[in-house]
Amino acid sequence: MTLAYGKVILFGEHAVVYGRPALAGGIDAGVRLEDLRPRPAGARLRVPDWGLEADADSPGALGAALARLAELLPGPGFDVSLRASLPLGAGLGGSAALSVALVRAAAVARGADWPAARVRELAHELERVFHGTPSGLDDMVATHGGLCLFRRDGLATGTPAGAEPLSPQAARLPWALPALVVGQTGVPRATRDMVASVRRRWEAGRAATERQFERIEGCLRRGLEALRVRDLAALGAAMLENQACLGELGVSIPEIERMVSLALEAGALGAKLTGAGGGGGVIALAPGREAEVAAAWRAAGFAAFVTAVGGGAAAPGPPGCRLRGLHALAPAARREAVATARGLSLAELAALADGGLSLEAADRLVENVLGRYGLPFAVAPNFLVNGRARIVPLVIEEPSVVAAAANAARMALAGGGFHVEVDPAEMICQVQLHHPAPEEAAARIRAAEPELLGVAAAQDPALARVGGGPLGLELRCFGPEAPGEDGFVVVHLRVDVRDAMGANAVNTMGEALLPRLLALCGGRPGLRILTNLADRRLVRGRVRVPPAALALGGLAGEAVRDAIVSASRFAERDPYRAATHNKGIMNGVDALLVATGNDWRAVEAGAHAYAATRPGGYGPLCTWRAEDGWLVGRLEMPMAVGVVGGASRVHPGARLALALLGITRAAELAGVAGAVGLASNLAALRALSTEGIQRGHMRLHGRAAPGEAR
Ligand code: MEV
Repeated sequence: MTLAYGKVILFGEHAVVYGRPALAGGIDAGVRLEDLRPRPAGARLRVPDWGLEADADSPGALGAALARLAELLPGPGFDVSLRASLPLGAGLGGSAALSVALVRAAAVARGADWPAARVRELAHELERVFHGTPSGLDDMVATHGGLCLFRRDGLATGTPAGAEPLSPQAARLPWALPALVVGQTGVPRATRDMVASVRRRWEAGRAATERQFERIEGCLRRGLEALRVRDLAALGAAMLENQACLGELGVSIPEIERMVSLALEAGALGAKLTGAGGGGGVIALAPGREAEVAAAWRAAGFAAFVTAVGGGAAAPGPPGCRLRGLHALAPAARREAVATARGLSLAELAALADGGLSLEAADRLVENVLGRYGLPFAVAPNFLVNGRARIVPLVIEEPSVVAAAANAARMALAGGGFHVEVDPAEMICQVQLHHPAPEEAAARIRAAEPELLGVAAAQDPALARVGGGPLGLELRCFGPEAPGEDGFVVVHLRVDVRDAMGANAVNTMGEALLPRLLALCGGRPGLRILTNLADRRLVRGRVRVPPAALALGGLAGEAVRDAIVSASRFAERDPYRAATHNKGIMNGVDALLVATGNDWRAVEAGAHAYAATRPGGYGPLCTWRAEDGWLVGRLEMPMAVGVVGGASRVHPGARLALALLGITRAAELAGVAGAVGLASNLAALRALSTEGIQRGHMRLHGRAAPGEAR
């Protein structure tokens, strides 16, 4: 979960100190939540990437900031571990990102969803401890991400002439700004010395220095216009001119100039220092040449990384960016809200109103078509999965499933959302060969494995081009069932199917293997088909929920937590209960799979087969425990899904569902499916173990509960 963004300044550093505007961008490199545990009072912090570990009693600025946090937010404390993906002290807003992350961790620990303004205000207080008089720019960007237009005399700014209005807080572009290359000279300089040297210059010759600031403001205005019309060459040119002004102000150094030249030689459109100069940060705009610029900088001994910029506001991660009140809107207004939130065109979403599939397309999908059969296409907002906010499309006829998933996603948000891990996309095709001596046949097949894999690979050169293809063979022998009968050998052809569900690819390969197997071993042909027990393609999910987020009616969160754990134990001991428990998981999973045009029957088959492979017999795919006072859920199940091929390609509704999710990779879809499974199970168990299914589950998550967020 991204808690705070790092920052680059596209235009206006130094000039901003003298009342001119600056344009800053949140970068994806930032500070993420690794782990959060409650403690009675006070905050303890660990940031291993920066070698930081402190609590309020620690010496130095960090200890003082944690003490200040305890003063600002008395009450329950927390123990937080953060991951930082940007360097500290590089002029990239690391310390503001730390302040914002601490405040957001405090919010998560309390199950609170503070508005961004409150987060920024509290973070600004911590920044005061670090820096005395912070400008407010860094904490603004760290909080909002996006693009921030900033003027020192207040956070709000006017609209620069000739540019589209940018929101004064977090501007979103209608298109994605290309990634920037961010580098560092490694030459240590103090920011305050840089600021002081410009001050001396200003005092010595105000008119000339103001002319430079004027020029810098002109660069910013041209940059804004270039952003508005998406003219990257003009944006790069404006950056270069801003850099020239900084040179004339005396804040550039030979190392920075060298990095700018190297970037231009490697194909950048523009480059400049970012920030006051203390951290030695340099940015380059090099669409399509980012890797080359980064390599050129590294080869010359400078640090470099590539990061997306301006995305924070459009791709919200932290709490405070929730889509609210959808349930209160009519479908057309909901489409509009969702289109705006996801940056999709309303016309595209409008196609959903009548099912998203034309009769002609339906007729091409299956045989003997008479018409189309409608189902509700709904969304569950506010899913936070591995730090990314997702609006989850669900196609389902059963009332309450969507609201239940949305409610559980909201509860999960209070604990940092869902964390998922997805195995590589390995599918297995079974090729059966009837044989009087299965072991002997297996030995011959094993010896010919490289050749057989070559035969399989040749069936799908397109898969090879995207890095997939056969991985190996595994052999399973079955002796005769009765005397005088043949046994059989089953060849498991393991294939990496990348972003496809993979059935077509592996079945084609399996069929192609058979003639070669017969030639090698003799015997009689058996079946050639994938197995839906996709046990090499698992998704594992985890969610932690603070008790406060679970409270229901008059019941305290702790009591609800314990009731959910007890319901989980019931399913772990009784297969009759486990079947229904798993059905509840599949409510959400299947609805997502239908929405995205995936073969939900395949995933159902795999799920239940996998549930039956436990040592104790059929069991739950998802279990719940109390850990450190919080409710922790874990899910593990096969998830053979694809985003290319099949209905996901031909059904416009399915394509739209993927666009709504912002997903282009099968692994991401599998991860979201795991999160939805956890959410559906959490909501069902919470209702079942407290109010009961009819009064609880159906009413709470059905339409008769306007007070509940959905
Ligand atoms: C109903 O569709 C799903 C539930 O039966 C799941 C469960 O019992 O856990 C409520």
